[in-house]
Amino acid sequence: MDTLLKVNGRKHRLRLDERVTLLDAIRENLGLTGTKKGCDLGQCGACTVLVDGRRVLSCFLLAATVDGEVATIEASPAKVSRCMRCRRHFGTAMLFNAVIAPLGRS
Ligand code: FES
Repeated sequence: MDTLLKVNGRKHRLRLDERVTLLDAIRENLGLTGTKKGCDLGQCGACTVLVDGRRVLSCFLLAATVDGEVATIEASPAKVSRCMRCRRHFGTAMLFNAVIAPLGRS
């Protein structure tokens, strides 16, 4: 299925299976690995991105259903800093990346 995603201000036309989550599309197809896969169950928030300025759990959203502009942690700080809740969730993701994820690699 052809899917058009606008991520961090750039448009990407992707051919994806309709079951691919936004998280997997961002990480595996676009190579933006700042968004992390934690629980993959909608509980940890490590996969949080913004869609049109609203935070969403990208592991719970099918890429083909996204209708809006996606901002990941790689986006400009100005976009991310607009929303305090988002900053908290991105902070959780950064904490996950810095502290928790390395523990699983050993
Ligand atoms: S990976 Fe944990 S909420 Fe999405």
